[in-house]
Amino acid sequence: MSKRIFVVDDEPKIGNLFSNVLEKDGYEVDAFVNPRSLVEALDEGSEEPDVVVADMIMPEMNGVELMETLQERGLDAPIIIMTAHSSVQTAVEAMRQGAFHYLEKPVNLEEMRALLEKAIELYGAQQELQQIKTEKQKQYPIEGILGESEPIVEARETIETLCGASNTTVLFTGETGTGKNLAAKTLHYNSPRADEEFTDIDCASLPDNLLEAELFGYEEGAFTDARDTKEGLIEVADGGTLFLDEIDSMSLALQAKLLSFLESREFRRLGGVEDKTADVRILCATNADLEQSVQEGSFRKDLFYRINVVNVQLPPLRLMGEDIIWIGRHIIAEFNEEFGNEVQGFTDAAKEKLFDHSWPGNVRELRNVLERAMIFVSGDRIDAEDLTLAPPRRLDGRETLGNEFQFPLDRTLQDVEKAYIRQTLEVRADDSYADIAEDLGISKKTLWDKRKRYNLDEVVER
Ligand SMILES: Nc1ncnc2c1ncn2[C@@H]1O[C@H](COP(=O)(O)OP(=O)(O)OP(=O)(O)O)[C@@H](O)[C@H]1O
Ligand SMILES: [Mg+2]
Repeated sequence: MSKRIFVVDDEPKIGNLFSNVLEKDGYEVDAFVNPRSLVEALDEGSEEPDVVVADMIMPEMNGVELMETLQERGLDAPIIIMTAHSSVQTAVEAMRQGAFHYLEKPVNLEEMRALLEKAIELYGAQQELQQIKTEKQKQYPIEGILGESEPIVEARETIETLCGASNTTVLFTGETGTGKNLAAKTLHYNSPRADEEFTDIDCASLPDNLLEAELFGYEEGAFTDARDTKEGLIEVADGGTLFLDEIDSMSLALQAKLLSFLESREFRRLGGVEDKTADVRILCATNADLEQSVQEGSFRKDLFYRINVVNVQLPPLRLMGEDIIWIGRHIIAEFNEEFGNEVQGFTDAAKEKLFDHSWPGNVRELRNVLERAMIFVSGDRIDAEDLTLAPPRRLDGRETLGNEFQFPLDRTLQDVEKAYIRQTLEVRADDSYADIAEDLGISKKTLWDKRKRYNLDEVVER
């Protein structure tokens, strides 16, 4: 599409010159003899220009005043001010106020062409970037965190509140697939940092030394493979948000370094001597029980308190009641749009099946199950037989705990833990302690200690 240029000069011959020369170059040129008619053209719905060239001195309104008027109207196309050689100083002043550049009169055609090209190129790049950003922002609205049950509403409200604070560190906890990544992105894209980068790293995906280099960067020669100096993510994320996923996998040594950064906002690259600063909001996520890790000595207590300033708990789907259906309907609507289907929801039998499942993979699992169902559905509603649910991973009774293990909501976490451990020990009486401890995600010693603490010795004979 050809680019559009608005030229305004009270001397008609300037407008004519631009039109003659630039139309041959393939531009569309609208020439005006006074600023007011230019503004009127925009008011009347004229297509917006990609660049505006305005004379500095005109009756009624000078070039800078016109620029201000256009800026107020939200036109962000670059503006070039034309001026006589003797008043270049005012043109420089205009640039300080936001003009893209100035063009000296009499106009040199080559200079004019080069300047226009540059302005248009930069403006295009800017527009593109802006578009990507606003698309991202649209992609992660607060309401995109679905669910009407109490625990998810609470989580969403906390996230909404946290959007106002641009520095607060937040820890997202929840099982796999409960939306920790989604929540972190939503928080970033609705915070004052939304225009800056969201950078994330999975702390479990790299060995410790690489993770350290990735986070803090390094100087050339800091270690054998460090051939160049490299910025760490903390630097890359400057101004934006850095999301540390699976923070529980971080080694104690690296935890100490992270803590020191969080406290001082200063860090050094590996092999570096210079203290650097970065303005980064740190968000963390884990599906481990960090308090327990602290007790077991694998996570620093001081770091735990530092990152746990606010904790957003994302509930597992099996505790979200009717949300299984409600979120399911949303997902179906999304897929309808994507695949051009017109599925209306679920049959009663399908609903029952959805409620009976324990959803160890939470919303992610629900999405996958429904995506598959949408392909196989024959009627206008998804039926029980369209739903292929993963069988329990083990058939030793452990997996059924997820379904049977229901609790009134007025119990303490300790009550729940005690009952859960008791039931596990009872159901899996034939399994080794090492296996059970591993499946529970705790050490054998912790399992023994808990068995003692909860007086389960007599109850669970083995
Ligand atoms: N409450 C929710 N509303 C809408 N979509 C959700 C919700 N929770 C999770 N999802 C969707 O489920 C999928 C998994 O979510 P996400 O990756 O954020 O989970 P996670 O908690 O980070 O999991 P993991 O611990 O495995 O990394 C994504 O497609 C996400 O959009
Ligand atoms: Mg995740």
